[in-house]
Amino acid sequence: QDPTRQKLVEAHELAVKFYHYFLNNARQGEKAKRYLRDRGMSDKLIDQFMIGYAPDDWDVLTKFLMGRGFDPVLLEQGGLISAKNDGSGYVDRFRGRIMFPLYDANGKASAFAARIVDEGSPKYLNSPESRLFVKSRTLYNLHLAKAAIRKRKQVVLFEGYMDVIKAWQAGVDNGIATMGTALTEEHCSMMRRHAEEVLLCYDGDDAGQAAAFKNIPLLEAAGLKVVMAVLPKGKDPDDYISEYGPDSFLREVIDSPVSVTKFKLIYSRKNHILLKEEGRKNYLMEAVAIVAGVESSTEREVYLKELSREFDISLDALKQDCHGMRLELQ
Ligand code: CTP
Ligand code: MN
Ligand code: MN
Ligand code: MN
Ligand code: MN
Repeated sequence: QDPTRQKLVEAHELAVKFYHYFLNNARQGEKAKRYLRDRGMSDKLIDQFMIGYAPDDWDVLTKFLMGRGFDPVLLEQGGLISAKNDGSGYVDRFRGRIMFPLYDANGKASAFAARIVDEGSPKYLNSPESRLFVKSRTLYNLHLAKAAIRKRKQVVLFEGYMDVIKAWQAGVDNGIATMGTALTEEHCSMMRRHAEEVLLCYDGDDAGQAAAFKNIPLLEAAGLKVVMAVLPKGKDPDDYISEYGPDSFLREVIDSPVSVTKFKLIYSRKNHILLKEEGRKNYLMEAVAIVAGVESSTEREVYLKELSREFDISLDALKQDCHGMRLELQ
């Protein structure tokens, strides 16, 4: 084993404890603590995920780690501290932020995601990539969720750290997230190693939907069966839980997934004004185009029948249009 790598893991583990202690015990951490409480995070949850607070000072962590003999060059490479511009020393990289430790698949602390308290930009700051932290291979919470993912043969993929944590509190023990919505082939094969199915639970806003549509083919190409969670417009899982509670989240969102096709139909529908004839017509054509992409003819008929009933259009007409569109697809 690479000894400098081992050292850097040690430094991260110490930093995790340092920030966590600061959140819980320092006067400076009180505001962050209150903010987390207001967002529905219990002390138990804060402990489980070892959430912390980076003091709003120049070099508290730097002094702490250097005082324990860590090489500042290594700490800088690992993204815990930064060299001052004039070369006169080092300062903490993260200041005045809520700290979410990121772990590798073996549960070793390898990086941080740092959130601003309240509003502001950038909302999240991540550690830079290092020999410990490669974003394209990091799945948040995989080390805690792995056993449940294997048992359930299903992984729930969220967009954000907060979603994973709040869903965990609600009882979702197989939830993970990428660092944002950038999903890689490596992420997919890591998931495939433990699961057969992925429940995609991205934010119910336009960005989340666009990311979902972009990522579905990638997940399917890795051999994962994809099912979709449906969230109210504009809400993300953590908003949903705060607003409607954990029981409703489990019942209405996690335990009520829909197929990818159904999901596309639902979103297309939300984008049209069905009270107007023009909107109805446009929705119908888009819906038929979505159904045309479905491989199984039985499944196609199920969706077309639904449309036929709801919009009082003959099944024959819908089938004909659908058939025409399939020919175009080939
Ligand atoms: N993200 C990031 N940097 C940003 C914004 C977002 O890395 N400046 C990533 C984070 O991994 C974040 C995810 O994208 O968790 C989803 O972004 P968003 O939905 O905006 O954040 P939330 O997870 O909803 O964060 P919060 O609930 O704390 O506002
Ligand atoms: Mn604790
Ligand atoms: Mn989002
Ligand atoms: Mn979100
Ligand atoms: Mn959120």
